[in-house]
Order: sequence, then C-alpha cells, then structure tokens
Amino acid sequence: MGENSSETLGEKSKWESYIEKTKRSRVNDLHILSKLIWMNQKNKRALSLGTGSGSEVVDLIKYKWDVTCVDIEKYSEIVLKTRTKKKFEFQNVSFENIKYRGKYSYVSAYNALPFGDKKYLQEIVDKIYKHLVKGGIFVLTLFTNKHTFVKNKKSYGVTREKIGEIFKKYKIDWCEKAEYDQQRKFGVVKWSAYEIIVRKNK
Ligand SMILES: C[S@@+](CC[C@H](N)C(=O)[O-])C[C@H]1O[C@@H](n2cnc3c(N)ncnc32)[C@H](O)[C@@H]1O
Repeated sequence: MGENSSETLGEKSKWESYIEKTKRSRVNDLHILSKLIWMNQKNKRALSLGTGSGSEVVDLIKYKWDVTCVDIEKYSEIVLKTRTKKKFEFQNVSFENIKYRGKYSYVSAYNALPFGDKKYLQEIVDKIYKHLVKGGIFVLTLFTNKHTFVKNKKSYGVTREKIGEIFKKYKIDWCEKAEYDQQRKFGVVKWSAYEIIVRKNK
C-alpha cells in the first residue's frame, strides 16, 4: 500500500497511488468464496465499502448487479469508470456517512474498514444489518492487533472475541485468520486479518 514509503510522496494521495497500482489486480478471494451465496440472491443490489479499484464491483456488474460504491478517495470512481462502461452509484464519503437506500443482498468491505474510525464500527455493522435482505451477506476483512498496519497505527485491529460481539445479530458463516508476510518496497508487512462472511438470517 505504500504507507511511509517514497511511493506515497508527491502529489498523489496514498490511496490514489494504491488504487492506481491495484487497478489490474485479482478480485479478493472472499468475493470468490462467497460467490455461491451471492450468485443465488434474487435482489441483485450490492454495496461496496472502500471500493478502491473495485475488482469485485466489475465482477458484480458483469452479472448485472446494481452496485453502490463508497470510497473517501475520488480517484476510485475515476478508475472504476475506466474498468466498466456500465452505470454504478458512487458515494465519495467516509464509512460513517453512507446514504443507505433500500436493501442490499451483498455488502463487501475488503481491507477497508480498519482504515476508518474504530468508534463507528458497531454503528456501521448495525446499519448494514438493517439494510440487508433476509439471507443477505456482509463479507469483509478486519485486522488483528498483530497486523503491521495496526502496530504502525495506520489502522485499527480487533480480537476474535470482539468479532463475536460486534456481529451478534448476524450468523457468522465464516471467520478465519489469514497470516502471511508481504514483501513491500518499504519492508515486510506482517499481514494478519480475519476473513469474515456473516449473514442476516431473520
Ligand atoms: C486498502 S484499500 C482496499 C481497496 C479495495 N477494497 C481492495 O481490496 O483492493 C482501502 C480503501 O478504503 C478507502 N478508505 C480508507 N478510509 C476510508 C474511509 N474512512 N471511508 C471510506 N473509504 C475509505 C481508501 O480510499 C481505499 O480505496
């Protein structure tokens, strides 16, 4: 992602540089893992939080989904418009200021929420629950406290116990810890994140 590195210096913001670099990257594994669930949803409305270059959005649009994207970085919309000719809604706001319209079947937040403000996490999770259809899923990653970006105070972390509390209204279908080293220009990032699929059952 380039935090602390020369690649984030200059005119581009750190997220603009990141989005530019990832605009041809593979879609998140969690999007593929949850495909069997979201593919069968009747109401094809999705919400993508911290869209970035938006690989999952491009895929959803391919399957004729109506997608709302949320990203604090305007460049996300610019890049996404080069990746799809189809229409999508884009909200250039922070996670706590999303305008929810109606109900969604699939909400994604890949490596995004931990860069926001932790004090809004529960509120966001509850609002999403309210705006999910019955059987709808929220698929996301949250960092553990061991993640390099948490240790560097670039993002926040959570414990497994906290995940149980935050998502107590939901059914937790999947929650696995992914830990590995990433070689970046500025050094090794110790990646440590929970990969989560939760569902609204009632
Ligand atoms: C690490 S990138 C992940 C992008 C994409 N989801 C992916 O997996 O490649 C984090 C994204 O969240 C956005 N972001 C960071 N803080 C945000 C906030 N408070 N509200 C909305 N978007 C935010 C950034 O602009 C960036 O596009």
